[in-house]
Amino acid sequence: VIDIRKLYAVSDHFTFDPGFTSTASCESALTFIDGDEGILLHRGYSIEELSEQSSFMEVSYLLLNGELPNKAQLDHFSHTISRHTMLHEQLATFYRGFRRDAHPMAIMCGVVGALSAFYHDSTDISDPTHRMISSHRLIAKMPTIAAMAYKYSVGQPFVYPDNSLSYTGNFLRMTFGVPAEEYVVNPVIERAMDRIFILHADHEQNASTSTVRLAGSSGANPFACIAAGIACLWGPAHGGANEAALNMLREIGTPDRIPHYIERAKDKNDPFRLMGFGHRVYKNYDPRASVMQKTVREVLTELNITDPIFDVAMQLEEMALNDSYFIEKKLFPNVDFYSGIILSAIGFPTEMFTVLFALSRTVGWVAQWNEMISDPAQKIGRPRQLYTGPNQRPYPGLAQR
Ligand code: ACO
Repeated sequence: VIDIRKLYAVSDHFTFDPGFTSTASCESALTFIDGDEGILLHRGYSIEELSEQSSFMEVSYLLLNGELPNKAQLDHFSHTISRHTMLHEQLATFYRGFRRDAHPMAIMCGVVGALSAFYHDSTDISDPTHRMISSHRLIAKMPTIAAMAYKYSVGQPFVYPDNSLSYTGNFLRMTFGVPAEEYVVNPVIERAMDRIFILHADHEQNASTSTVRLAGSSGANPFACIAAGIACLWGPAHGGANEAALNMLREIGTPDRIPHYIERAKDKNDPFRLMGFGHRVYKNYDPRASVMQKTVREVLTELNITDPIFDVAMQLEEMALNDSYFIEKKLFPNVDFYSGIILSAIGFPTEMFTVLFALSRTVGWVAQWNEMISDPAQKIGRPRQLYTGPNQRPYPGLAQR
């Protein structure tokens, strides 16, 4: 009979690190975060500069290829992506299997996973050309899939991509075009949306990216891996937080109710947390939250919307940042704190927020997946555990139990 406890005492050691708070699972050249200083760099470029001066297509190229594109490279890349925006007609019928009130993230998990049934060449992951085609397909089709999930939920006809528009303009038209032929893209909203995509493009080894890498480490096809990432992103502690943050702000409703919610967040007997606050890595202001806050102003001004929730958010942030609990625990607004206000102002229902996150993060996921597969040191991901169950024991017959 094995004495498991003794076995642990003498076996090779491994790190016990629940939640991987201090364990690096890979080497990566994509994204650098300094959580104490509030710094986020993609391939060496700061998120502030990228979100101010770049476009989502440029950032996608950068993440996938390592360098910013020149004009010809950008044109070629954008053209390549636009060639892949269509969905197979049979996938449109796939949507009809979902209930109208299905959460769009449920549809995203299903439809993205189902892409592997249409692109058999994607299963040859050893070929870099095939890997890049799959990556382009995913980046290109996500806006179409996301817009169709929205259209399905509101009972409107699907809108086909118009590839004369930008990546983001095309997405806005496919989502809000009723009728699509008359839809005119507002350049301020297009720019704000593009910036939101940039801000969510990659964030090193977060839960969903680690899920994509873990799924991919077994050799699973990229569509299945990205579907796994989408499933992980759905959780309220991750991508679902922007939906939860906006719901929380609406529930608070007026600034006079903020102190009550701050007290609740501090009460250890109350499971309530300030949604959109805190981050595993940032122990200083999330640099994406500052850009997001600025973008809220631009969008509300452009659309001539006075949203009282924005005042609640600003005052909540100020009160929390001056509260000793939040100061000591280094809890600052994260990217999700303000994004819900912008997305809601643009017209997205809250259920679509995480879908938009998935759309933008797809480029990070495929870039990380490609990086992992190209790494000669790549192995199947296989964490260990500390077993806490019973020692080996004799099996009792049914009558003895
Ligand atoms: N409100 C109140 N207290 C909080 C909050 C919060 N939002 N976040 C953390 N804390 C407290 C915890 O209760 C804990 O207190 P304790 O030390 O007394 O036990 C301490 O701060 C540390 O929190 P952990 O949960 O251990 O930190 P972790 O790094 O595991 O969690 C997380 C990070 C999940 C983001 C957390 O801060 C949280 O739940 N925030 C709200 C959800 C959210 O906004 N998620 C979006 C993350 S960003 C993204 O995915 C894009």
